[in-house]
Amino acid sequence: MRLKISQLFFFFFCIVLLLHPSLAQTTNEHEQEDVKRSQFPDGFLFGTSTSSYQIEGAYLEDGKGLNNWDVFTHIPGNIKNNDNGDIADNHYHQFLEDIELMQSLGVNAYRFSISWSRILPRGRFGEVNTRGISFYNNLIDNLLLKGIEPFVTIHHHDIPQELEDRYGSWLSPLMQEDFLYFAEICFKSFGHKIKYWTTLNEPNLFADMAYMRGWYPPGHCSPPFGNCSFGNSDVEPPTAMHNMLLAHAKAVKLYRQMFQPKQGGSIGIIANTMMYEPHGDNEDDQKAVSRALAFQLAWVFDPIVYGDYPPEMRHYLGSVLPRFSQEEISILKGSIDFIAINHYSTLYAKDCIHSACIPGWDRPIRGFVYTTGERDGVLIGDRTANPRFFVVPRGMEKIINYVKERYNNMPMIVTENGFAPPPQQKQQHQQDLLQDAERINFHKSYLAALARAIRNGADVRGYFVWSMIDNFEWIDGYSVRYGLYYVDRQTLKRMPKLSAKWYKNILTVDATSNSNSSNIFKRKNTMSTVSQASKAEI
Ligand code: BGC
Repeated sequence: MRLKISQLFFFFFCIVLLLHPSLAQTTNEHEQEDVKRSQFPDGFLFGTSTSSYQIEGAYLEDGKGLNNWDVFTHIPGNIKNNDNGDIADNHYHQFLEDIELMQSLGVNAYRFSISWSRILPRGRFGEVNTRGISFYNNLIDNLLLKGIEPFVTIHHHDIPQELEDRYGSWLSPLMQEDFLYFAEICFKSFGHKIKYWTTLNEPNLFADMAYMRGWYPPGHCSPPFGNCSFGNSDVEPPTAMHNMLLAHAKAVKLYRQMFQPKQGGSIGIIANTMMYEPHGDNEDDQKAVSRALAFQLAWVFDPIVYGDYPPEMRHYLGSVLPRFSQEEISILKGSIDFIAINHYSTLYAKDCIHSACIPGWDRPIRGFVYTTGERDGVLIGDRTANPRFFVVPRGMEKIINYVKERYNNMPMIVTENGFAPPPQQKQQHQQDLLQDAERINFHKSYLAALARAIRNGADVRGYFVWSMIDNFEWIDGYSVRYGLYYVDRQTLKRMPKLSAKWYKNILTVDATSNSNSSNIFKRKNTMSTVSQASKAEI
């Protein structure tokens, strides 16, 4: 059969389309690119993440005091299946085994958090618990022995209950002093061994969950966001956030004055970040995207980089949004050495100023933006265990580019990225949970997107998988599993999932760039050190 010239031309055009890497990506972003360690800069941190309450257990051992989660999870109905972190993964007793697992993965860094009430059972109002200090010193020493860099988050959602009972924790400015006191003890006790600090994990998510939706302790909210016994969803989140930001700034000021010059570490804060795409093909929804990003990510980083909340928040929240004094601005502005983000998913954003929205979304506190994973009956990506998390790898590249543009390409790090499968109808068999091909595909495609952003100049210096092992997933208890290692809830035995083997393969097959001896944030943009091999691939 003879082809006409126009048919031949069309055929040739299709081949070009398919072969062109950027076009192929948009046509099929789930197409599996092979990810190699050499696509990332020299010394790039590849790690796994956890947090104290989610894995440690030992909730009343060795002098630890009660924290907000100990109390909240013991109230029936707050957590799925009434699960709690009393035992969690028993990491407090099994940490040596967990370090072995990490060593076998080949990670060069491990992100964990410090249980505030293990160090200070009663906050500022009691003694320092030396057995708590010893636990973390042991953990840190053993990580270093195995060549794994400790990446410490000082506070990840858990607060001594006494601070809640005395003055309402983050709703009071007094909490800033408590955090400062806690941070100082951490810098003094561990700082000589720590290169990487983050002050708080996701203050923006915590403000939302604890004070708008009421899903995290202290469980505050008001209609239409929920029916809690206490709270004001329109007002409390910005107040809590304000205190968290100032607590961060004070701790960083102290670190820089008293510890950093000798200890030589770097310090940051972690924001929870979604990416957003317009729901409709119109200008209103484009603007809704900008507002959604401002009300979430820039809520944390604008004050820290530029000294005030984003203009969109000032505009829509008016007097509800607290003001910073000149003195506060001077300590806030510039109070990070790097930007840390946790990123899992992308949602559509829809304007609620000019069109009607479900009650709750049409409020100033939400920036008059409705966010959803669905458009015209089609999901933005595959479902996961979290109804608001979808698999949208392109979002990783987009959020990194957004941060790069908004904050002048400051050094960045992805401190969490992970996947949990949607719950099955029937009880999932352990063997199914170990064969986690979906998780491998998730990480492959998100890492490929991250590598693209880096190739285009984004100064990203590390990536941590959430999570090292299955753990206590807040309101979902143990029903949701994010781990590279499976944990049997009866025996607490850890077993590698397929994804652990996959990660190990990436990390160990071409491990030449695994140099982690110097602080990665003390270097120039590490793009210049992307290996020759990967340059050739670009
Ligand atoms: C939190 C983790 C949590 C993870 C998965 C992040 O927002 O920092 O504690 O387990 O998301 O939901």
